[in-house]
Amino acid sequence: MPAPRARRILVTSALPYANGHIHLGHLVEYIQTDIFVRFQKLRGHRAVYLCADDTHGTAIMIRARAEGRSERELVASMREAHLADFAGFEVEFDHYGSTDSDANRRLCGEVWRALRARGLVTSRDVRQLFDPVAGVFLADRFVRGGCPKCGASDQYGDSCERCGATYGPADLVDPRSTLSGATPEVRSAEHLFVTIEALHDFLDHWTREAGALDPRVANYLAGHFLGEPLRDWDVSRPAPYFGFEIPDAPGHYWYVWFDAPVGYLAATDEWCAQHGESFDTWWRRAAAADAPAEIHHFIGKDITYFHTLFWPAMLEAAGLALPTKVRIHGFLTVDGQKMSKSRGTFLLARTYLDHLDPAALRYYYASKLSGGIDDIDLNLEEFAAKVNADLVGKVVNLASRTARWLEHTGLAADYPDDGGLFARAAGEGAEIAAAYEACDFARAMRTIMLAADRANAYVDAEQPWRLAKAGTGSAARLRDVATVALNLFRQLAVYLAPVLPRLAAQAGELVGGPIASWEESQAPLVGAAVGPFVPLMQRVEPKQIEAMLAASRESAAATPSGGTAVEADIGPPNTDSGAPLAAEPLAPTCTIDDFSRVDLRVARILSAEEVPEARKLLKLTVGLGGDSTRTVFAGIKGFHDPAALVGRLVVVVANLAPRQMKFGLSEGMVVAASGAGAEGVYLLSPDAGALPGMRLH
Ligand code: 2FM
Ligand code: ZN
Repeated sequence: MPAPRARRILVTSALPYANGHIHLGHLVEYIQTDIFVRFQKLRGHRAVYLCADDTHGTAIMIRARAEGRSERELVASMREAHLADFAGFEVEFDHYGSTDSDANRRLCGEVWRALRARGLVTSRDVRQLFDPVAGVFLADRFVRGGCPKCGASDQYGDSCERCGATYGPADLVDPRSTLSGATPEVRSAEHLFVTIEALHDFLDHWTREAGALDPRVANYLAGHFLGEPLRDWDVSRPAPYFGFEIPDAPGHYWYVWFDAPVGYLAATDEWCAQHGESFDTWWRRAAAADAPAEIHHFIGKDITYFHTLFWPAMLEAAGLALPTKVRIHGFLTVDGQKMSKSRGTFLLARTYLDHLDPAALRYYYASKLSGGIDDIDLNLEEFAAKVNADLVGKVVNLASRTARWLEHTGLAADYPDDGGLFARAAGEGAEIAAAYEACDFARAMRTIMLAADRANAYVDAEQPWRLAKAGTGSAARLRDVATVALNLFRQLAVYLAPVLPRLAAQAGELVGGPIASWEESQAPLVGAAVGPFVPLMQRVEPKQIEAMLAASRESAAATPSGGTAVEADIGPPNTDSGAPLAAEPLAPTCTIDDFSRVDLRVARILSAEEVPEARKLLKLTVGLGGDSTRTVFAGIKGFHDPAALVGRLVVVVANLAPRQMKFGLSEGMVVAASGAGAEGVYLLSPDAGALPGMRLH
């Protein structure tokens, strides 16, 4: 039962896109939110953690197309993967919905009608680049070309990575669609807009006065957006678009960023239906007036203005409750740099879980998160050192050194004199709770570890192993010392329970039963039975980290990026050996016509198997998109693990005359580099975004 003064707290994390897997960067947010929710529940509050997949938009449509399946099939399989990853990290949602749901369609309609009723919807024509081959309007990131300012080639449609200039996709020099390679056309289409400016005064007030935002965020918004009239927000996209068609505007679809935050409402609605709760008491101002619920959104800093301008404006227009807090965090770097595929630091949740304990990352993130907007760094050496020193060396060690002395007797019947240790740490409970409440988990962890240090110093001083050796005369003292140590261990487990739910459950099994309330940190247990000690946590070994990085490099090479922005690795300075070129001098000059007779295409490896009788060959089936596949025998055996090749994009000579070989017909050739100076055969991979069937020009 909730405590008498229980708060009602609705908590969300940003809805992850359904077009990519969860990685360790995402988990900064989900783990942070999960810790906050578990803390609130442990305190006896009615906290509800809601999330959903963010399913709509061009990116999903394009990925589904590239994979030859429907958007809904893609969304369904990604949902399963997301849920497995979250469960693996003990991120426990009360409900996980989807923006492609009936509830979301209905609630989008409700917000839309409110905007219309207030006269906030207008329409006008927008000129946008259109891919005539793929038949879609192109979002900025699907157009590349030369920077109009500095001339750098191959830049995105909105900004130049070299000189930082920002521009529109139509300004690019020689733009091309990354979907088909075609030159995009400028086409005009009608779009619908929300006149956010009508809510400018409200936003000025809400961002500053409501207490929802850190004042630094309010200042940023004032400086970048609210200092001048707000531009109308373009909330529709013309067909084809994977999303909801706008009921009173056929042929127009809500832009994904319109229906995504409404997904918070939809997830609440579904959770309420499952639990006999009333949606209105959570989100409708009138119904919630007597006992309003708190609404906390956890988000990354990159989506600040959606959540602090557009979203409150939508809620205000619809008469719905406004966020109590928008809690904004920074990005994750790994070893001080952006996550990188070639370094193996673009770490997927799944890859981590294949090698390491989720509790280790939960604790490490907690020890780094202080509730601010700064980026946090996953320093892999520090990660191992901290987990080993703190969790294994201090917390688990406390139990492993003392529990066995109590297995037969249980805890002492009276709590012994511990020099005030338990009471001191109990007294720090309020400070630890305040740190959790402020999402300053780093401070909470520091305070908890200082208590762990004091507990270990006590055990070191009392030396229970000596008491055990000393025989029956010391049995009572041994029991007392172990009783103190195990109580201090359980107290730490209560404080750490939001971060380490599994450790807390194991502590409960060892002594005292399940940890259900923060209050259990306040009074020691006596006389309770003590179960057999089972190892609670393993050390993080460097070789596990190495294996994870190696697996991550492999899988990054084998899978397309899914559109996630990662750092382009900067190559080394020009210190490359001249040996390969010297060993194989350039071929005689050919004309462009000669070159264009060779039809090089991007292809995906669909299957790869050894040809047992052949020393060098692997048999590959490659796909050129749609139903077009080829069988190719490639001389790469011994250099590539067939299983790791499947899914990877390569370049093939697609119009090579088929050749009958001993093992079958070879219908093309996979392009690879080899030569002096290195033994290997190196397959070529196109940049992220390339699709099977694209021609190399
Ligand atoms: O940036 C993102 O990953 C978005 N999918 C977040 C959406 S949050 C909310 F508004 F739905
Ligand atoms: Zn530039």
